[in-house]
Amino acid sequence: MTHVHLTSLVLSLIFLIIIVVMQNKGKNIRIWHMVLRATYILIIVTGGILFFAAYSIPLSYYLKAILGVVMIGLFEMVIVRKQREKKTDIIWIAFSIVLVILFALGFTLPMGFNLIK
Ligand code: HEM
Repeated sequence: MTHVHLTSLVLSLIFLIIIVVMQNKGKNIRIWHMVLRATYILIIVTGGILFFAAYSIPLSYYLKAILGVVMIGLFEMVIVRKQREKKTDIIWIAFSIVLVILFALGFTLPMGFNLIK
């Protein structure tokens, strides 16, 4: 299940890059935005399955899940604010910080890959 979780979040990052590039070129992002939103569902469902697969749920799992949902909120904020031509600098900073924390947490928590020990 961690593989599906990883695959869907990598896909969502790729779709986000495609969307931002298209926005910069002034192209219509509607379909890509829909596809991206479908990957959110995959991330949340697989994350939820991993969450409940933990034998006893430690605090770090709650943090991981909450930050995971915040991350998806940041994806949307970046896209929507860019679309409205508002500033996105601060959102990008928050985006990077939360993404790094999520990867660090994801790869240190016991299930799946343990890249950071
Ligand atoms: C875009 C948002 C997200 C990112 C970037 C992200 C990132 C990651 C990464 C890198 C892993 C490690 C995978 C592995 O070890 O194979 C992971 C595992 C996990 N994620 Fe997420 N995640 C996100 C959203 C969520 C959400 C929304 C939830 C909960 C509803 C969630 C819950 C979990 C759980 C429970 C694990 C397993 C932890 C463990 O290895 O023991 N994630 N995530």
